[in-house]
Amino acid sequence: MKVLFAVSECVPFVKSGGLADVAGALPKELALLGIETAVMMPKYSLIAEDFRRRMVKKAECEVRVGWRRQFCGIEHLEYDGVSYYFLDHEYYFNRDSLYGHYDDGERFAFFSRAVLEALYALNFETDVIHTHDWHAGMVNYLLKEEYRKKPFYQCMKSVFTIHNLQFQGVFPKEAVHDLLGLDISHFTTEKLEFYGDINYMKGGIIAADRVTTVSPTYRDEILTPYYGERLEGVLSDKKDVLTGILNGIDDVLYDPLNDPHIDYHYDAVNRDGKRKNKAVIQKTFGLPVNEDIPLISMVTRLTKQKGIDLIKRVLHELFEEEDMQLIVLGTGEAEFENYFRYMEHAFPERCKAYIGFHEPLSRKIYAASDLFLMPSKFEPCGLGQLIALRYGAVPVVRETGGLHDTVTAYQEATGEGNGFTFAHFNAHDMKHTVKRALSFYHRKEEWGSIVQKAMTHDVSWALSARQYQGLYSREIKGEAPCSRVKKALNNAF
Ligand code: ADP
Ligand code: GLC
Repeated sequence: MKVLFAVSECVPFVKSGGLADVAGALPKELALLGIETAVMMPKYSLIAEDFRRRMVKKAECEVRVGWRRQFCGIEHLEYDGVSYYFLDHEYYFNRDSLYGHYDDGERFAFFSRAVLEALYALNFETDVIHTHDWHAGMVNYLLKEEYRKKPFYQCMKSVFTIHNLQFQGVFPKEAVHDLLGLDISHFTTEKLEFYGDINYMKGGIIAADRVTTVSPTYRDEILTPYYGERLEGVLSDKKDVLTGILNGIDDVLYDPLNDPHIDYHYDAVNRDGKRKNKAVIQKTFGLPVNEDIPLISMVTRLTKQKGIDLIKRVLHELFEEEDMQLIVLGTGEAEFENYFRYMEHAFPERCKAYIGFHEPLSRKIYAASDLFLMPSKFEPCGLGQLIALRYGAVPVVRETGGLHDTVTAYQEATGEGNGFTFAHFNAHDMKHTVKRALSFYHRKEEWGSIVQKAMTHDVSWALSARQYQGLYSREIKGEAPCSRVKKALNNAF
C-alpha cells in the first residue's frame, strides 16, 4: 500500500507547532508497518541549508493558478526511511515565515494543485492521499472534483486530518476562479461557499473519503457549536466517516535517555539526571537554585486557545500563596508576550519567560520541570503534555480534546493517574488544581511514583499508526476493483 502525505510543515525541516511533529513521526511509523509512505511539502527557504543542499531534483511540472501557469520544481530527499518531496517555487515559499502572508490563499492553492501535478510528473501512483489542515484541503477537493476524471488519479482515495479547526483558510469568493481555476458552480453551500467567502478546510472535509481528527474527544466536541467553529453542520454531514485517532510522539526523538539537547540523561527509574537538569535551568534563567522549590513550565503558542487568559487572572495569586517557580517558553499574541515580560519584572525570583521559538531550549525545559501547565480552552490533541509526560514533567491540564484523552487525574486513594486535571474553563479551578498538584510535591515518595507513572505512560505512535493503517485499508478495500487497488490490497493483507 502506498500513502502520500501532503502537509505544510514537517519535522525536522520546518515546524511552527504540533502539526510538524505529527507529519515527522507518523510516516516513519507507517513505514515500519510496511506502508510505503512519502511526504510532499513546500520547499521553504526557512529549511536549513544542510537539508536544502542534499535535495535532488527529480522532476518539474506546470501548475495552473487561475489563468496563470506557474513552474514547480520537485526535489527529493530520503530521510529516516521516508521519501520527502519538496515543491519548489521561489516566489511563494521564499518567505521569512510559514504563514500570515497577504497571498496565503494563492500560495496554498498553488501547493494543492502542485501536489496533484507532481504525482503525475513523478509517476507516483499512490493508493491514498492523506492531507492535513486547511493548507492542503484543496488537494482533496481538486482530486474529487477534477483530477479523478483522469485515469491516473481514478483509484486514489483521500483522507483529510483536522489538526485545528480554528484555522480554516477563508478567502474571498474570487479565489474560486482566480486561484483555484474552478468555475462559479463551486461557490455553493454544498461546496466551497462559507458565509460569503470560500473555505479551504471545508473543501477538504467535504471532498475527503475519510475525515479524521487528532483525538476521540475532539472528534465529538467539533460536532457541537462551542467547538465546531461554524463547521459543525458540515462535520455532522460527514459524521459516519469522521474518526478521532490520538496522536503520539516520536519516542526516539523525544527521549530523556538520549536527547542531545539536554545536559543530563535519565529514565523513569533513575531520575538523578532530571534533578541536575533542574539546577542547570534554574541557574541559566537566574532563578534561585533550589531543588525543593517546585518548577512549573509552559512551552506553548501564547494564544487564547492555550488558556493564557486563565493564567493572567490568577498567576499573581499563585506566586503570593505558593513557593513555586514558573518558566514560560512561548511566542504569539503581543498582549500575552508582554504580560509574561511584565510578570518577570514583578516576580523576578519566581517567573522567567523566553519569548521566542527555540527547540533545544524546549527540551531542556521539559527535562528540568516538575510540572507542565496546559490549561487549554480547546485542544485537538496537544503534544506538549505528551512530551511532558515522557520527560517526567507532570501535566496539569484542562479536560478537553486530547488533554482529556491522555492525562488522567491523580487519585490519592488508589494511586492511579498521571497528572492533574480540571473540567471547567475557569481560572480559580485551574489555580485550585495547581495548588493541589503542588501539595503532593513535598511528599517525596508519593511524588516519585506520580512522576514514574507519567514517564511510563505510553505516548508512542504504535497503536495509532495501526488505526491509520486500518482506516487506509478499509478505504481502498471498499473501492470497486481496479487493478492497482487489487495489487495494493494483496500487499496489505
Ligand atoms: P499546537 O500545535 O497547537 O501549538 P501542540 O501541543 O500540539 O500545540 O504542539 C506544540 C509543539 O510545538 C510541541 O512540540 C512544543 O514543544 C512545540 N513548541 C511550542 N512552542 C514552542 C516554542 N516557543 N519553542 C519551541 N517549541 C515550541
Ligand atoms: C494542532 C492542535 C494541537 C495538535 C496538533 C497536532 O496544532 O492545536 O492540539 O496536537 O495540531 O495534531
